[in-house]
Amino acid sequence: MSELSDFLQQRAQQGLLRRLIPAERRDKGLRYCQGEEPVIDFSSNDYLGFSHHPRIKAAMKEAIDRFGVGSSASRLLSGDLSIFHELEQKVSRLKKKEGALIFNSGYQANVGILSALYKKGDVFFSDKINHASIIDGMRLAGADFFRFRHNDTDHLEQLLKLKRADFKQALIITETIFSMDGDKPDLNRLVKLKEKYDCLLFVDEAHATGIFGRDGAGVVEELGLTEKVDFIMGTFSKALGSFGAYLAASAETVDYLINQSRGFIYSTALPPALIAADIAALSCLKDEPDRRRVLLANADYLRNRLKSIGLKTLGESQIVPIVIGDSVKAVSISEELAKRRFWVCPIRPPTVPANSARLRVSLSYDHDRDVIDKFVEEINKLV
Ligand SMILES: Cc1ncc(COP(=O)(O)O)c(C=O)c1O
Repeated sequence: MSELSDFLQQRAQQGLLRRLIPAERRDKGLRYCQGEEPVIDFSSNDYLGFSHHPRIKAAMKEAIDRFGVGSSASRLLSGDLSIFHELEQKVSRLKKKEGALIFNSGYQANVGILSALYKKGDVFFSDKINHASIIDGMRLAGADFFRFRHNDTDHLEQLLKLKRADFKQALIITETIFSMDGDKPDLNRLVKLKEKYDCLLFVDEAHATGIFGRDGAGVVEELGLTEKVDFIMGTFSKALGSFGAYLAASAETVDYLINQSRGFIYSTALPPALIAADIAALSCLKDEPDRRRVLLANADYLRNRLKSIGLKTLGESQIVPIVIGDSVKAVSISEELAKRRFWVCPIRPPTVPANSARLRVSLSYDHDRDVIDKFVEEINKLV
């Protein structure tokens, strides 16, 4: 036990100890903790405000009446319901891929897909700051993996030149909006490299789905690269306001994963109400494109305002990280902001590299320019 308490003490001294802080209630862009005034929630990934959308809530209620609360089994037993197939058809249409498969979460998808498709003798080339679920999926697969410096396609090419020929199958993996930096990869160059070095390309569009592209399908759609990207993974848990994840890929890949992906096979399927919410969220995405346009314009506005007061921001999306550097300082600014009614969580190592602690502002459609102006005014007093 002393090992556990040593760990906790050390974390506390380094300003790295995590604590849970429950909200009693949440509403459009706001978080209510017990007995306190609400705070502006700048840490949620509910980018489009869909988690409170009346159409999506109504769809959930209807699905409970039709199917009950839980799905009661894995889809390969009796948990398969027509609405899973309806959602998969909608995803494959949106992503313009032959097939789609729903996973219970983004974490489970990345682990379940990578570990099923690759094995010892294969190789992954993964961006250094790809999400933990990608790292865990690569580890579980048992294949070798090499991590290239963040968004450094020259470094990737060096690794490909050196290592590609030693392995059978090879996969390049990137996020299309990086969750902690809010930036995009050079997807066109990644496509060229995958073709040159006989690899396949896997993208995680968790933070791009619903925000980028003409139809909100993501960065792959925005760049017209659908044909060139082999595996498009994404989640319903962020901009789409609900829960669950998907892979859009070839029909053969989907059939293979239904038979081989342990995360898909050995877990109870998502509750039908969540699937109904995901279907309704895709309809809202189609019917309300203005939400994503307003959001991205507001994110630009916030970046410019922060720059004007001398702060360093990263990225080019609705995720606006403000780099502080020192973890203890990031925690203290975050606490001060909370007193001023802004909820901006500090992101610290090991989630981000040493000395790059940051306040990660995730903007939502529910935050208007008055809120943004007030935030800039408050943070200006603290840095
Ligand atoms: C890039 C990325 N992939 C996957 C996930 C996991 O998704 P989920 O929260 O649905 O498990 C996340 C969420 O934090 C993420 O940021």
